[in-house]
Amino acid sequence: MKVTGKIHEIREEIKGWKKAGLTVGFVPTMGYLHEGHTSLMKEAKKQCDKVVVSIFVNPMQFGVNEDLDSYPRDLEADKVLCEQVGVDLIFHPQVEEMYAEGFCSFVDMDGLTKELCGKSRPIHFRGVCTVVNKLFNIVQPHKAFFGQKDAQQLAVICRMVKDLNMDIEVIGCPIIREEDGLAKSSRNTYLNEEERKAALILSKTIFMGEELVRKGEKSSIKLLSLMREMLASEPMAEIDYVEAVSMDTIEKIQILEGNVLVAIAVKIGRTRLIDNFIATI
Ligand code: PAF
Repeated sequence: MKVTGKIHEIREEIKGWKKAGLTVGFVPTMGYLHEGHTSLMKEAKKQCDKVVVSIFVNPMQFGVNEDLDSYPRDLEADKVLCEQVGVDLIFHPQVEEMYAEGFCSFVDMDGLTKELCGKSRPIHFRGVCTVVNKLFNIVQPHKAFFGQKDAQQLAVICRMVKDLNMDIEVIGCPIIREEDGLAKSSRNTYLNEEERKAALILSKTIFMGEELVRKGEKSSIKLLSLMREMLASEPMAEIDYVEAVSMDTIEKIQILEGNVLVAIAVKIGRTRLIDNFIATI
């Protein structure tokens, strides 16, 4: 497995693979890898001949008061995990390699980013779209793999690829959970013991909501108020949002039908966690 931070080396390597007729799968990450990430890598391995993983904590997608500096990093452990899964190439650039002096070009999106995380993190998706666009241009994969845990991000990337005519297939992969239900996230490491227990309220609420929808609940007002009630039963939970939106447009919906995304964001202590379910009704 090769590890490089240099764009020209990545290009050289991938050019060789493509010349040999091999397909390239790409998993963009910010590192501190866990089973959520390895599930994406395994899927990429299943579907493609070669797998590239990027590890880059992208400053552009963090707001001023967010956790850029404290975001967990462990390149050595990440390399071991990638090696175990059979990743072929890790791209681990420095900030200067990605954003050279004078950098001033951005990819932004008018729709899909107004609700959910876009509301409380206003510059986040501009940063995500810009870096993912750059990474796509550098790696030029056939397929790119994203987790459904960041469902709005997945919808935004699908839209960007469609709108900008990128020749890349975006594959969404299911949420991976801890045994007790908590969705895997690099940010779970911020939680102390008491917060870790309290954080279970997210998955409990998601499972309850999913069950209600499975049993035929059609009113988003009713569903969301029951979900809010459950979240409020945990004293350590501070709700950011509980919403039902169309998975395609990320616009709020009243009636639960079509491709529905029910998403929550909750602060437990200082840690903001997200979870969701998608239902096709
Ligand atoms: O989901 C993430 O880890 C990041 O938002 C991504 C897609 C790697 C872009 O920095």
